[in-house]
Amino acid sequence: MKINDSYKRLNSVWGWIDRQHNEQIARQIPPHSQILDIGCGYGSLVNYLSEQGHEAEGIDLEEDMIIIAKRLFPHVNVKLMNAEEVDSIPSSGFDVIILRDALHHLVWEHESKRVFENIRRILKPDGKLIIWDPNPMWILRFSRKLVNHIDPQASVEMAKAVLDQEHFHIESLTFFEAIGLPLSGGYVGLQLVPNVKVVNMFLVKVNNVLSKLINGIGLGPLFLWRYLIVAHL
Ligand SMILES: C[S@@+](CC[C@H](N)C(=O)[O-])C[C@H]1O[C@@H](n2cnc3c(N)ncnc32)[C@H](O)[C@@H]1O
Repeated sequence: MKINDSYKRLNSVWGWIDRQHNEQIARQIPPHSQILDIGCGYGSLVNYLSEQGHEAEGIDLEEDMIIIAKRLFPHVNVKLMNAEEVDSIPSSGFDVIILRDALHHLVWEHESKRVFENIRRILKPDGKLIIWDPNPMWILRFSRKLVNHIDPQASVEMAKAVLDQEHFHIESLTFFEAIGLPLSGGYVGLQLVPNVKVVNMFLVKVNNVLSKLINGIGLGPLFLWRYLIVAHL
């Protein structure tokens, strides 16, 4: 994706929803934490967490992502690094490590065992691992088929199995995202609503209410597009 496209997307409806996702993640984090976002992409989460007063940094193995992140958010601390090779990062350096939309890549395309060994080493003993990933429920799978979007999937069951195998204990599992992502189109999909402030505000509100409601009655696994796991060692 070109910088203009990511800039346009983040300044459009998706920017509002992306921020809402960042807020959901940030709610799990104690004040003034040292945070590493693995697979930080365009850096919007690192930027958001830095704005909230955390010491946040991000790594990504794709050079284009880091170049765009640095242009979009010149003050954020992001660097080109593969999570399989983080020897330069000191041990027990982070209160929180985040995988936002990155777990499905790590488990299918990388040496995830090595990545989790690294996470265990660089996380403080009382630190948290936060996983936010697409919930491959029926609507998501159907929509991807419709637009011929091919991406690896990491179901909640798979995430639980990986965490168990890697000696993490799950503190909480919740679901979020009812209509914001499909209507905004994310970074690459079709935007189905106009980019008008009042519409965006309404969308964010409705998305929040619906997500809470659906999650609250236990139907998140069937209808919500993202899962959020907080785990510790
Ligand atoms: C779907 S994108 C998500 C980007 C960002 N976290 C977000 O939510 O917008 C997944 C990102 O993970 C990165 N990634 C995948 N495997 C990685 C690894 N082993 N080390 C570092 N980054 C990785 C990819 O380059 C990509 O930018």
